[in-house]
Amino acid sequence: MKITVVSPANIAFIKYWGQRESNLVLPCNDSFSMNLSACTTTLEMERVEDPIIQEMQIKLFEKEHYEPATEAQLGKVTAFYKTAKIFLHETKDFGFRIKSSNSFPMKAGIASSASFFSALALAFSKAFNRDLPEKELSILARLSGSGSACRSVPDGFVWWHKGENSPDSFAESIAASDYWDIADLVLVVSTEEKKTGSQEGHGGAQTSEFFNDRMDYLELTLPQIKDAFQKKDFTKFGTIVEEESYNFVNILNTQKPPLNYWTDGTLQCIKEIHNLRKKGTECYFTVDAGANLHLICQKKDMGKLESHLQAIPTVQYVISNLPTQGTHIL
Ligand code: DP6
Repeated sequence: MKITVVSPANIAFIKYWGQRESNLVLPCNDSFSMNLSACTTTLEMERVEDPIIQEMQIKLFEKEHYEPATEAQLGKVTAFYKTAKIFLHETKDFGFRIKSSNSFPMKAGIASSASFFSALALAFSKAFNRDLPEKELSILARLSGSGSACRSVPDGFVWWHKGENSPDSFAESIAASDYWDIADLVLVVSTEEKKTGSQEGHGGAQTSEFFNDRMDYLELTLPQIKDAFQKKDFTKFGTIVEEESYNFVNILNTQKPPLNYWTDGTLQCIKEIHNLRKKGTECYFTVDAGANLHLICQKKDMGKLESHLQAIPTVQYVISNLPTQGTHIL
């Protein structure tokens, strides 16, 4: 059995930061995202009978050839294989050979774990001869440890319900990718590896003295952004997206130990985005746990903004994304 799966990374408009339960990857709040068309993982899996065989090769965007995965990378895959086996109540083992490649640079600060683990969730479930409903597939992807992977499974614009327990903490599409002509331009200002990964970061979120305020803020904000989205009110939508970014970064900066990801380049881009807006082009920024920015704009303004943004001295390159479908078989 051989299967090829494609899955996108996603950008959160409302962030997942902080876990109620880390083993089951249960978040403290709902989150809301869009799948990214130019940032996908393509994963080929060959299922073999001998369960001893567990191999993976990776082709980085910048490279021409596949290279063997590191022990740490393969370790995460074999751990997720065990999780998938338990989740699916399967007893019979199989072996696998995986080839994984990304359509975007590894060091662009775009979480490749979301696209990779959502793809792997579908590949493993198929290799176990299972056709999971989308909800179950998103739960399995969440259990990979990269929680945001669950949001890469459904199409287009995706809501992750925090749920009460594991069976109801899942992601679902609230609109298809052609629902709204908006775009995400990733402004890469740093290609340095992050010192603290998301897993460690989530663990510290609740040590911020502002964490409970954030939960109150999100209780009000989640219905507001949904309303702006449903009305396609871009001004209201973008304003909330940007406000939420500051709220999220405030948690990063005040958790213990604090996480400071922004660089001069980040601040310069924010200034530039605000300038562009003043001059009449509506665009808003959002950030993940890193230095690079995501600019959210309307599709009609994409071309004009791309050339403006490329000209910012600290911007190394721009990756332009439209909303796209979720995890699927090629
Ligand atoms: C800041 O634990 O899903 O991007 O394992 O790196 O994919 P990775 O991260 P994960 O946390 C994501 C945190 C975030 C916000 C978000 O995407 O909601």
